[in-house]
Amino acid sequence: MSARAALDTPLCAALGVRYPIIQSAMGWVANSQLVSASARAGAFPFLAVATLTADEAEQEIVRVRELTDTPFGVNFLMEQPGARQIVEAIVRHDVRAAGYSRSPNAALIAELKERGVLCVATVGLPRHAEKAVQLGADIVIAQGAEGGGHTGSLATTQLVPLVVAAVDVPVVAAGGFADGRGLIAALALGASGIAMGTRFLLTTESPVPDRVKRRYLEAGPDDTVVSKRIDGLPQRVLRNEFVQELESSGTLDRIVESLKNARTFRAGSKASLGALIRSALALRSTAGANVLHAANTAVLARRALVDGDVIGGVLPAGQVVGRITDLPTCQALVERVVAEAHTTLDALAA
Ligand SMILES: Cc1cc2nc3c(=O)[nH]c(=O)nc-3n(C[C@H](O)[C@H](O)[C@H](O)COP(=O)(O)O)c2cc1C
Repeated sequence: MSARAALDTPLCAALGVRYPIIQSAMGWVANSQLVSASARAGAFPFLAVATLTADEAEQEIVRVRELTDTPFGVNFLMEQPGARQIVEAIVRHDVRAAGYSRSPNAALIAELKERGVLCVATVGLPRHAEKAVQLGADIVIAQGAEGGGHTGSLATTQLVPLVVAAVDVPVVAAGGFADGRGLIAALALGASGIAMGTRFLLTTESPVPDRVKRRYLEAGPDDTVVSKRIDGLPQRVLRNEFVQELESSGTLDRIVESLKNARTFRAGSKASLGALIRSALALRSTAGANVLHAANTAVLARRALVDGDVIGGVLPAGQVVGRITDLPTCQALVERVVAEAHTTLDALAA
């Protein structure tokens, strides 16, 4: 098989995308600007709307549509306030795929599929992949422990072959990918492509302030840490003063901080207190998040990724951050990954 044909995987056909490369959803990062740039470059991007209101989500979907006519997906939380309205917007604007991870909702998945939207579930364990496919997932993203943001404990090299063996839909490898060698390694493990988060955060079109990008670029391979203290779920972030304090703080301090963040989140989300409590309870029952601390992730990541506070906010990051040293355009990044994948395959064949 030629190197070119090797990259034309079932994922490309399923998503209608040129290369088997997904730009991952990242709250406050994967906005219409980044999504349209990575879509134009030949990757399949997910717009991240879990931190937006339903109206803001629809505006962003419309904006992507204005900027590019290539296919893209929308990633949301099925228990977030306004989830039903987001589903309507996905269908109305002919979005190719809906992405979700924690707390999948069987009724919403069935409805999305019925209305022609591909369902893409992110999982961290083989049994979660099986469950996701039973619930209707058309594609599964297997994110290993190296990955940024909420993450599991199985390394990508262990997780991907187990998920490939467990399900019969295309599997995308995520967690630790940044280049063409990684793409070929993922294909060798049985995946149909890769998803990259941290790598796309560090591009010129990523909306993150320059000083924050510099903070990421300075990080080494052991500068990330997995903390459960942000919202109760394990989350891989850059080690900074805030996270170190959080790890050593007492219960009372954390409760006070969480209540402040819940108030900030409520003001920003314009959701009723009842809707937010329902959303937090759904997260706890399905994913084990802590109700009291549920709003922390959105507020603390916003503080860093939007307001630029690299000391007092939370900076989700994969271990791969230690290998990333530049800020290419999305176009240059995708071209480089594809070119390197081709030369890697040629070198292996030789
Ligand atoms: C800054 C940042 C924000 C993220 N936000 C989300 C999110 O809102 N929803 C989600 O499903 N995953 C989120 N993730 C996880 C990514 O979608 C992806 O699975 C992960 O970045 C892959 O690992 P990598 O960073 O090693 O490429 C986030 C990751 C990062 C780095």
